Amino acid sequence: MSTISSILHSGYHHPVQRTWQCQPSLTKTGLIYPIFVSDIDHAKEAISSLPGQYRWGVRRLQELLDPLVAKGLASVMIFGVPTNGNKDAVGTLADHPEGPVIQAIQFLRQKYPDLHVSCDVCLCAYTVHGHCGILHDDGTLNNHQSTARLTEVALNYARAGAHMVAPSDMMDGRIGAIKQGLLDEGFAHRVFLMSYSAKFASAFYGPFREAAQSSPTFGDRKCYQLPPGARGLARRAILRDMQEGADAIMVKPGMPYLDIVRDAKELCPDRPIAIYQVSGEFAMLYHAGEQGVMDLKTSVLESLACFQRAGATVVITYFTPELLDWMEH
Ligand code: PBG
Ligand code: ZN
Repeated sequence: MSTISSILHSGYHHPVQRTWQCQPSLTKTGLIYPIFVSDIDHAKEAISSLPGQYRWGVRRLQELLDPLVAKGLASVMIFGVPTNGNKDAVGTLADHPEGPVIQAIQFLRQKYPDLHVSCDVCLCAYTVHGHCGILHDDGTLNNHQSTARLTEVALNYARAGAHMVAPSDMMDGRIGAIKQGLLDEGFAHRVFLMSYSAKFASAFYGPFREAAQSSPTFGDRKCYQLPPGARGLARRAILRDMQEGADAIMVKPGMPYLDIVRDAKELCPDRPIAIYQVSGEFAMLYHAGEQGVMDLKTSVLESLACFQRAGATVVITYFTPELLDWMEH
């Protein structure tokens, strides 16, 4: 039997009432579209692990972006893919003037004056061994050299015109080092630093590693990315990166880690919290939709609403092109 206090349905019967029950909705400016940029200028290479996504040559980026910008695309995140195999111990191609990332930044800044151009900062796609930093002879990470190199890469992206740099490497102390570098070089007032703070060692990155050709050739990333069950380490990383000067905190992957998003929101109530709906999440939803076991649009919009409920204000997602059609604002 219903009693006065048991009635909830009356509060959300009408669609307008339902919007009153939710936090302010995410709009198109809250979406960041990850794009893979190949070092082959005219490439448009399908990525079998990420249906509908391609490795684009800089000369063809317009084909991808003209229609999306027209629909309200506000922000992209660039991932360089050096397909020619010129990888080395220090990831030279990450920020080579002729490399895909610097070329893409310069092109996008000049072609789309209003587009927010951001870059993932890491070495794994550019090193021979596929790890995210520079290694000691024994195969462990040289945190000191890695941080110096990643800072140099971030500064070169800033120099080329990036509005935001987002280090995904997980070295200790890299946020402070990059922030200091931005300050020393006179970029601190115009370059946003988003930290992949709570980045877990996840199987959900599988499709991405095929896309970016960035799998480690030996071992795994468990000594620098966080153990999936480690809430304490995630909270410490979030607090540390905030203190080191991160302008925003990211949690990654998305759906299985919403409690961490809530932690981030509570630990950093005054900073935007970003969530990365990673390649494996994209693949799961995409294939479920293809198989007819779930409706794609409904499930993607649901995931977005849940990111927002958990506390995220920025969402990095491969579904951005679809969302630009599905969202009204
Ligand atoms: C590079 C990087 C990865 C992702 C973003 N930046 C892969 C990894 O850490 O192995 C994953 C993105 C995705 O799965 O969509 N460090
Ligand atoms: Zn990496």
